[in-house]
Amino acid sequence: MDDIKYTPTRPAALTYDADKDYGTPRSDSDVMVTLNIDGVDVTVPEGTSIMHAAQLGGVTVPKLCATDSLEAFGSCRLCLVEIEGRRGYPASCTTPVAAGIKVKTQTPKLADVRRGVMELYISDHPLDCLTCAANGDCELQDMAGAVGLREVRYGYEGENHLGQAKDESNPYFTFDASKCIVCSRCVRACEETQGTFALTIQGRGFDSKVSAGNQNFLESECVSCGACVQACPTATLMEKTVIAAGTPEHSVTTTCAYCGVGCSFDAEMKGEEVVRMTPTKAGGANHGHSCVKGRFAWGYATHADRITTPMIRKSIHDPWQKVGWDEAINYAASEIQRIQARYGKDAVGGITSSRCTNEEVYVTQKLIRAVFGSNNVDTCARVCHSPTGYGLKQTLGESAGTQTFDSVMKSDVIFVMGANPTDGHPVFGSLMKRRLREGAKLIVADPRAIDLVENSPHIRADYHLNLRPGTNVALISALAHVVVTEGLVKEDFVKARCEWDSFVAWRDFVAKPENSPEALAKDLGLEPQKVREAARLFATGGNAAIYYGLGVTEHSQGSTTVMGIANLAMATGNIGREGVGVNPLRGQNNVQGSCDMGSMPHEFPGYRHVSDDETRALFEAAWGVTLSADPGLRIPNMLDLAAEGSFKAVYCVGEDIAQSDPDTQHVTHALESMECVIVQDLFLNETAKFAHVFFPGASFLEKNGTFTNAERRISPVRKVMSPKNGLRDDGKHEAGLEDWEITARFSEALGYPMHYTHASDIMDEIAALTPTFNGVSFKKLDELGSIQWPCNDEAPAGTPTMHVDEFVRGKGKFFVTQYVPTTEKVNGKFPLILTTGRILSQYNVGAQTRRTENVVWHPEDKIEIHPHDAEDRGIQEGDWVGVSSRAGQTVLRAKITERVQPGVVYTTFHQPETGAKVITTDNSDWATNCPEYKVTAVQVSKVNQLSEWQKDYRNFSDTQIELSGMDPQTVVS
Ligand code: SF4
Ligand code: SF4
Ligand code: SF4
Ligand code: FES
Repeated sequence: MDDIKYTPTRPAALTYDADKDYGTPRSDSDVMVTLNIDGVDVTVPEGTSIMHAAQLGGVTVPKLCATDSLEAFGSCRLCLVEIEGRRGYPASCTTPVAAGIKVKTQTPKLADVRRGVMELYISDHPLDCLTCAANGDCELQDMAGAVGLREVRYGYEGENHLGQAKDESNPYFTFDASKCIVCSRCVRACEETQGTFALTIQGRGFDSKVSAGNQNFLESECVSCGACVQACPTATLMEKTVIAAGTPEHSVTTTCAYCGVGCSFDAEMKGEEVVRMTPTKAGGANHGHSCVKGRFAWGYATHADRITTPMIRKSIHDPWQKVGWDEAINYAASEIQRIQARYGKDAVGGITSSRCTNEEVYVTQKLIRAVFGSNNVDTCARVCHSPTGYGLKQTLGESAGTQTFDSVMKSDVIFVMGANPTDGHPVFGSLMKRRLREGAKLIVADPRAIDLVENSPHIRADYHLNLRPGTNVALISALAHVVVTEGLVKEDFVKARCEWDSFVAWRDFVAKPENSPEALAKDLGLEPQKVREAARLFATGGNAAIYYGLGVTEHSQGSTTVMGIANLAMATGNIGREGVGVNPLRGQNNVQGSCDMGSMPHEFPGYRHVSDDETRALFEAAWGVTLSADPGLRIPNMLDLAAEGSFKAVYCVGEDIAQSDPDTQHVTHALESMECVIVQDLFLNETAKFAHVFFPGASFLEKNGTFTNAERRISPVRKVMSPKNGLRDDGKHEAGLEDWEITARFSEALGYPMHYTHASDIMDEIAALTPTFNGVSFKKLDELGSIQWPCNDEAPAGTPTMHVDEFVRGKGKFFVTQYVPTTEKVNGKFPLILTTGRILSQYNVGAQTRRTENVVWHPEDKIEIHPHDAEDRGIQEGDWVGVSSRAGQTVLRAKITERVQPGVVYTTFHQPETGAKVITTDNSDWATNCPEYKVTAVQVSKVNQLSEWQKDYRNFSDTQIELSGMDPQTVVS
């Protein structure tokens, strides 16, 4: 529910009801218009449809082709009304309000017309309502009732569509053409909401039908976002889970556990079973839209591979022993105590994950700091967005994105750098595409032609800066050079808002001839003129917003590029209002939150340094312990020391470092060298294969907490079923535990009880100790749906746009960003550059999505190679190719494509056996140690067998699966 500007004289709709369908979209006009509907005056914004106005006035007009997420279409003729003084019966969905008109929505004539329309629909519809999966949830059925249809005069024997075949090709939904009323809602949802344009209405009149381009859904352009299924008013497009399980009984609103968009979903349930996940219309990040992962790929939560029993073992060569919670927790605690007594308190540490809730991350870092007694806690953001944290804090004063996602709808120029929103952040990608179709300009800086460049219908990048991997800083300098030397700096903004001295130093630096597009053309591999034109467009095209991702951060100069991006935004005045800003697209669901919650070794929650006496005193008073003022170990330091023999134990919550961290051989050697590896996860992941204690975690459906998305939006995660992790080997069930409870019990076993009774208690503690979270509570989240931090006395409802009047650090600070080429160079032996990325249907290390039907779209990772490079090496589509680097070798199947430029190859890394981290180097960002995943010099050649690493991996993995009591033949690898 949210406030609206309407002032209807009938006390009906002072607020919008998220569960109600108003038929057509809202109008944003400030001009109000009063009309009379069924004898009552209603005042609404100009541009509102009569249908929408009627709903606001408490009057429901029958409809079939209209729904308020889509523009009005006017095809079903069910919503006709009478307007005094006008001829005929206009459709209320396509007719806008006008001042003073008098509308009648219910007259005998209208009732006749509507019954006639419904008669035609029903005469060509299978009358199987009682056995239909949509029974009770079907708008056609509702409308037949609403118009009082009692008989069908035409009979059911005439020509009809009842014999049409079903399309069952999509793994998640069915298309039953015999039930289609050709209302086009699906077609329009695919165009307007999703922006894929996979569907059309083919044929005319009686022959018209929905078509996925003359193919079945699976083979079509469809990306299985579910928008058409959501929009369909009949059972034509229907989730297979609903067909199998029947109508849900109740629902609970929660948040997707996949990417950093943070979509809100209603988990629709039957008892303890999820029947479907429906994107929440009131969701602040997604407004009722979804992608294939959140909408459909939740089956992993109950997958047979899931481990639901705590396990312990002395050595990684021993079989796992399944035990109860007490035994596992006490064993882990005794091991930590033994190791600390023998090797010192700094010999142990912990790693949190961005898949965890804020509350879980908070209690884990508290355990490490207050109980383990050091700051040896780090998080997976180390390997993705740590440069964002550093770079934005330095320049703007806060380690977070500046905008809401909705802000993009006010952008005139969108600059996407090193990100692939349609694959990595699909729901935001759809919103961005909508704005681009409205006419916003697009600059893409990426070595590879992502879909936005020219592979999305009705969208084409104005400039694709397909730079050489590793030259981001050079590009940012070249763009800044043009802005500065062509007089495009917004000096008023800079003078008022930024540190002038820092600006002057930066201006003088970027103005140097060596930073011109011409001087850098060879490094960049770009025509200087193109860079100049892109810079001019960015600086002069109106509201310009920058969106960036791991293609910016995962470099040896990741932090430098982030600072360069902030410099560019400040210099052009593109910060501090809607439509502009610096927007890191966070990869995982809670990257922002895991960083906010103090899981970096140098910072307490709220990004306050551990050496700050005042902050430490605050936490010491609250936690009743003395805390270390020394920054702890980062993940790479922990691994180095483990390999050397002085770091002996790690508590790894939800993170799979053996698959996601650089230099796989080094990581696995380090894990093998430790005396106690404790893994808390859903599956026997790659790290768990080296573990001594396994705490089975709870899925996002089984716990309470919060996630914070890329727009700083804190959203509720709500328990929709009881935790499945209470099963013991003896067949007895204990109560399952939420992940924060596991950590709290672990803490208690170590002598430090935490005394929380619910995740909300943890949030209350976070709020009490963190200024930017002071106003956050579960109660407020229930009231508002979600909250963008900072949320405190100054901003009780949160902060959609940051740095509005001044930067968090006061004045914005420019930093000189000297381009230092990476040491990873191509040569005769390794002549190609490998870069990496993601794909829509899979997620990160793939532990979740590989255990869903999403594998039909991406069963294996492939290496993309340009046709010229392939031809030079005699490589054909689908060949096995060896990919060798200075670090190692792996083997992947070839995909030949012009998406990559000559000299560049590309792979995703969603399968452990892909071994992408076997070949990437140990280069990392100078400020944060974020690995340089995006630049590896490689050679590629045709081979006919797996690499040695892959063979070893298979043997080791199979053995470990057997030691856990599972069958390597059935476990998903
Ligand atoms: S499939 Fe559903 S939404 Fe699409 S035209 Fe048919 S009835 Fe309408
Ligand atoms: S699932 Fe999404 S992409 Fe596929 S046809 Fe429907 S709306 Fe289009
Ligand atoms: S866009 Fe991200 S958050 Fe939204 S449904 Fe997809 S994976 Fe989940
Ligand atoms: S709802 Fe208005 S014409 Fe269909």
